[in-house]
Amino acid sequence: MKTRMTELFGIKYPIMLAGMNWLTTPKLVAAVSNAGALGVLAGAQYNPDSLRKAIQEIRKLTNKPFGVNLTLGIASGPLANVVIEEKVPVVNYSLGRPPEIQPFIQGVHSYGGKVIGTIALVRHAQRSEQLGADSLIITGYEAASHSGNVGALVLVPQVVEAVKVPCIGAGGYADGKGLAAALALGAEGISMGTRLAATKEAEVSDAIKETWVKSTEEDTVIDPTFDGINCRVLRNKKAEEMLKKKSFPLFDAWSAGMMMKKELKIDYGQLFKTANSLRKSRGGGLKGMASAMRFSVGGRLFRTATVGGDPVNGILMMGQTVGRIHDIPTVQEVIDRTVAEAKQILSKMNRQIAD
Ligand SMILES: Cc1cc2nc3c(=O)[nH]c(=O)nc-3n(C[C@H](O)[C@H](O)[C@H](O)COP(=O)(O)O)c2cc1C
Repeated sequence: MKTRMTELFGIKYPIMLAGMNWLTTPKLVAAVSNAGALGVLAGAQYNPDSLRKAIQEIRKLTNKPFGVNLTLGIASGPLANVVIEEKVPVVNYSLGRPPEIQPFIQGVHSYGGKVIGTIALVRHAQRSEQLGADSLIITGYEAASHSGNVGALVLVPQVVEAVKVPCIGAGGYADGKGLAAALALGAEGISMGTRLAATKEAEVSDAIKETWVKSTEEDTVIDPTFDGINCRVLRNKKAEEMLKKKSFPLFDAWSAGMMMKKELKIDYGQLFKTANSLRKSRGGGLKGMASAMRFSVGGRLFRTATVGGDPVNGILMMGQTVGRIHDIPTVQEVIDRTVAEAKQILSKMNRQIAD
């Protein structure tokens, strides 16, 4: 399959792995690249040394193009430097303000790297394009974790008509029907998160994998309670408890904030700024201190689910797309059947026109 996405990144299929903190390990990233799509490592969880090691590990596992996703605003300066020094072929940023986005894009372009900006609003798509992004990921309402309020059916064509760069749909894509639909809406490919995480190569507990298989499209909830920004997660007991309480988690916020500060090597000011810029970039959520406090608490609970492998006591970011996930295949199987099904649909549509 050839689209502007495959040509831009030098990949076989118009599919990428969505950067997902704690889930997109070097092994999963390399498996996706080796399968002909674009593997992407989420960088926000790393410090500069461990990020460099993870990039080097990916290079040992694949000689195909791959990418790194950076949440600009979370200790992003030192991490951005590592990505540029390592000449990562594709860099995907989410969040960030223009004074930080622009030099980052220039840095990546200086060695010939390509930049994808992640957006959930039309005006942010136009801004990313003006700042020099080569491509955009359009995050629809269906997506796991943070999205805006508009579903893919409206958002993708809105953005595609507002910009010239190739666009990639994210949120809700799990199969060939999704890929064909994204192409029909004007996108040049798809970004798959939860679907590519629910694979044999993913280094996450069996309990989490079972949760993805068992859950239906009605088992997620989107609310700012979890981390201060509208965030889509599994509606489990812990999520219900948090939704019911809604009170200010003062002690939790303080201790989780200490952990985030230490892990990300940032101060409270940066934590506050990050939480607020995330909220603004997604167009919804709590404000001020409430946002920063929830951001810390959420960060810790997300780790309990993904790193701790606990889908009961942790908060698991998860997309509506789980309704379309019924098995745990290999990455290669997911990619192959997605492409085969999309091709079948596209040629059927072609025949329908001809008849
Ligand atoms: C556990 C988890 C962690 C995520 N971490 C990030 C991240 O670090 N940076 C980012 O831009 N998006 C992150 N996302 C969002 C994904 O990149 C993507 O938008 C989403 O998974 C797409 O929806 P889908 O899972 O339904 O395919 C995360 C998603 C999940 C499930």
